[in-house]
Amino acid sequence: MSTRKVKIFDTTLRDGEQSPGCSMNFNEKLEMARQLERLGVDVIEAGFPVSSPDDFRAVEAIAKIVKNSTVAGLARCVEGDIQRAWDAVRHAAHPRIHVFLATSDIHMKYKLKMTPDEVVARVADMVRFARSLCPDVEFSAEDASRSDRDFLVKVFDTAIAAGASTINIPDTVGYSTPNEMYDLVAYVKAHLQNPAVDISVHNHNDLGMGVANTLESIRAGATQVECTVNGIGERAGNAAMDEIVMALRTRGDFYGCTTGINTRQIYRTSKLLSTIIGVGVAPNKPIVGANAFAHESGIHQHGVLAERTTYEIMSPDDVGIYQNKMVLGKHSGKHAFADRIAELGYRMSDEDIAEAFERFKEMADRKKEITDRDIEALVGNAAISD
Ligand code: KIV
Ligand code: ZN
Repeated sequence: MSTRKVKIFDTTLRDGEQSPGCSMNFNEKLEMARQLERLGVDVIEAGFPVSSPDDFRAVEAIAKIVKNSTVAGLARCVEGDIQRAWDAVRHAAHPRIHVFLATSDIHMKYKLKMTPDEVVARVADMVRFARSLCPDVEFSAEDASRSDRDFLVKVFDTAIAAGASTINIPDTVGYSTPNEMYDLVAYVKAHLQNPAVDISVHNHNDLGMGVANTLESIRAGATQVECTVNGIGERAGNAAMDEIVMALRTRGDFYGCTTGINTRQIYRTSKLLSTIIGVGVAPNKPIVGANAFAHESGIHQHGVLAERTTYEIMSPDDVGIYQNKMVLGKHSGKHAFADRIAELGYRMSDEDIAEAFERFKEMADRKKEITDRDIEALVGNAAISD
């Protein structure tokens, strides 16, 4: 089976940040953006620059520091938004303007109060304007999954003719089922006048099908997927990055796709986000939950000890959870402690290591065994940098 690469578009800093209790300050957004670049995402949607001066400043700063990922700013199909998005991302090594307009009857009638013809005309004008500023323009048809399919294709054809190089099919309200998303992506791909563009999907998780919808969209030909760390996002969230990436990797035999993600950075990225926003993940969350690689029952423990693959379909090491290492305890020295910090992927000054080691000793007096997760809690944010 031939293997194709799917682009990962991360919107943790935009759609993710829109979810209640998940806001981040300027420095936290920068820290998160650095980690997303280290993780290897293709696109970082850094924010919605017109939404507030703080958001603008964060997107602008992220655009200046990120070198390897494309940095996108969101804009409605309004000149002022698009100009503001461009002003924020223009310094990026790879800038992108992401414009969106709704295409479903319900949104056009009640929210936009525009006719379908007016929507088409607006998309043509605003994508052309965005393209006059930026060489990389993405167009999203908000509420695409509840839109008339032929109208949707007409809008996408219009956006592509006006200069969009990525068209995005959002399941904005998380209403679709996996086979519906498969059909929709396949339909759009088959009917576009010029299909030589990236076809993206953006699936919300209201019915718990965000990841499944994304994986089926990939099977139907999507070349970019939009997702967030830990699945945070509006309402019930967006499709979780870690689950999509590890499904593609673990079931490469089925999907025949890869991503550019350095999977060993997945756990650290999840942890950093949880620490920043103060919202943890459920213990039974796939991939990064505390129990994702825990084996409680004797039968399972016995099996895993005899042969890991009896009950593990992925290795915790592959997502950056290093479990089977020497146990640290109160007799461990600073050297072993510093080595473990480095192995976990953290970089710390000698001074910070010395401080963390003091806290480690106090913890070791209370706890018999110190796990990697305890160490991560000890080093906290101080350690996350190059
Ligand atoms: O859910 C959605 O439709 C969006 C768009 C702005 C892409 O977030
Ligand atoms: Zn969304």
